[in-house]
Amino acid sequence: MHEDIQEILYTEEEIKTKVKELGRRLSEDYRGLNPLCICVLKGAAPFMTDLVRSMDIPLEMDFMAVSSYGASTKSSGVVRIIKDLDASVEGRHVIIVEDIIDSGLTLSHLIDLLRHRNAASIKVVTLLDKPGRRTVDLQPDYCGFTIPDAFVVGYGLDYAEKYRNLPYIGILKEQVYQQQ
Ligand code: PRP
Ligand code: MN
Ligand code: MG
Repeated sequence: MHEDIQEILYTEEEIKTKVKELGRRLSEDYRGLNPLCICVLKGAAPFMTDLVRSMDIPLEMDFMAVSSYGASTKSSGVVRIIKDLDASVEGRHVIIVEDIIDSGLTLSHLIDLLRHRNAASIKVVTLLDKPGRRTVDLQPDYCGFTIPDAFVVGYGLDYAEKYRNLPYIGILKEQVYQQQ
């Protein structure tokens, strides 16, 4: 285990099992719909790549990057697009793929945006949900694990851009983020 990790919340094996289960459910629900899976960079990248490989239906992938954490963007509720999608979502069945929902601000803005662009349907799959921190009314359509309000990293989740490559999800030691 990495020395900055206090405790492993979900092992590589537990994540694998959960991602496969989510992929199976999505495959059933989206058969024949050629869904467009949209990965919210960067956190959702590992989840996205594992998830689509557990879906045995035709689908397409696209990527989007938005700014949320840092500066005053959170409190102002403004989410800025850093990298937009390559293709149109008009008439498409969209699955937004997230690693974690915290306040819900990132997703609520993304959903608004895709609605304005006339997607046929928009659903959200998140590996982790932290409902205790929600400031907007938003529930994922598919969720891997519901977690308490702890500082988690790994499997895409970062602290100051670190730990994204850990194969498990763990709670970061307090001393790590208190040093800064
Ligand atoms: C994190 C996480 C979600 C979002 C959740 O991304 O990956 O995308 O915050 O927070 P919210 O529900 O309060 O909006 P972050 O902005 O840290 O970017 P990253 O994915 O590149 O780490
Ligand atoms: Mn993110
Ligand atoms: Mg982040």
